[in-house]
Amino acid sequence: MEKYMRRCLQLARLGEYYVAPNPMVGAVLVSADGVIVGEGFTAPYGGPHAERCAFADHDLRFPGVAVDTLVVSLEPCCHYGKTPPCADLIIRRGVRRVVVGCLDPNPLVAGKGIEKLRNAGIEVVTGVLEQHCQWVNRRFICLHKHHRPYVILKWAQTADGFMAYLPQGEGEQPRLHVSTDLTKRLVHRMRAENMAIMVGTQTVINDNPRLLCTHWSGRNPIRVTLDRHHRLNPESRIFSDEAPTIVYSDDTDWRHITEDLASRGIHSVLVEGGARLLQHIIDSDIYDELHVEVGEQTIGQGVMAPKVELKQCRLTQIRQQRLYEWTRQTPPL
Ligand SMILES: NC(=O)c1ccc[n+]([C@@H]2O[C@H](COP(=O)([O-])OP(=O)(O)OC[C@H]3O[C@@H](n4cnc5c(N)ncnc54)[C@H](OP(=O)(O)O)[C@@H]3O)[C@@H](O)[C@H]2O)c1
Repeated sequence: MEKYMRRCLQLARLGEYYVAPNPMVGAVLVSADGVIVGEGFTAPYGGPHAERCAFADHDLRFPGVAVDTLVVSLEPCCHYGKTPPCADLIIRRGVRRVVVGCLDPNPLVAGKGIEKLRNAGIEVVTGVLEQHCQWVNRRFICLHKHHRPYVILKWAQTADGFMAYLPQGEGEQPRLHVSTDLTKRLVHRMRAENMAIMVGTQTVINDNPRLLCTHWSGRNPIRVTLDRHHRLNPESRIFSDEAPTIVYSDDTDWRHITEDLASRGIHSVLVEGGARLLQHIIDSDIYDELHVEVGEQTIGQGVMAPKVELKQCRLTQIRQQRLYEWTRQTPPL
């Protein structure tokens, strides 16, 4: 069943930049002699789920061939949301067996989808490539399991450990450029993969960033920042109408912010700096991934990058840049 599940995971990823806050799900229908006779993946939010798309694909391409097994990367839903329950459809279509990658942690489903199928006399196999299926939906799972978004910290630093030049008086500050065109593009891909993006007050003041996803396809993330002392200019580009922006001003404690983001259904946040915000988050120990880009230049003095041990990280060299990546959960091979 693993080869069918691998195909489900490929299909699931086709929705990567569009399905949030829904999970990415892929499904295939298999005939009794092992041929795939229908494929689908969960459509953008509010659209049909993977199972429904796979049946539609089957009806179009293989209408005369009986379906024996449905293979799906996430437990089928059993509740009315934006679409009717997939479990009901599967039962109606007379499938003999359902193979599930991992359980849906959403309390509205959480095992009930599988129970419904079993009660209808369908054989259900669970846990096929379970870790892979969980990894694809680590953001969605984090939100439902830990009631906070999945947190990714990302910054770029010089070879001698600085993230920015030291502040130079009033007015516009000189900007330190560490990223290359290629690594910038990779960062924009990360923006497309996450529902929200966050920077600290000083970064908004110094850099006036737009925080959009312009060098990759996908939706712009929701922008998040802090403004305890009402220092932000309402004309700043972070307040443009290209994406929504959330500003925390009364309570900027990281734990409380993650709780509030979760209550808004935001399953992931990419934090792009600056150093003080990143250090606050590192000290609170509420984060899941770290991505640090180290360029080859040195500047002698500047704003120090956060203090964190990079020794445990996976190292990739992209031309002259070194990329250090660390994940709390080990990704499956
Ligand atoms: N190389 C990179 O990857 C990268 C990325 C982003 C930014 N930068 C650079 O970093 C520089 C800014 O970094 P920074 O460290 O000075 O500032 P920052 O982290 O962007 O912002 C820090 C400010 O946010 C406010 N704040 C409110 N609540 C906070 C909390 N819980 N934890 C931390 N800060 C909180 C504080 O201002 P109040 O006291 O007013 O509340 C604090 O001084 C910029 O010059 C920018 O160019 C570099």
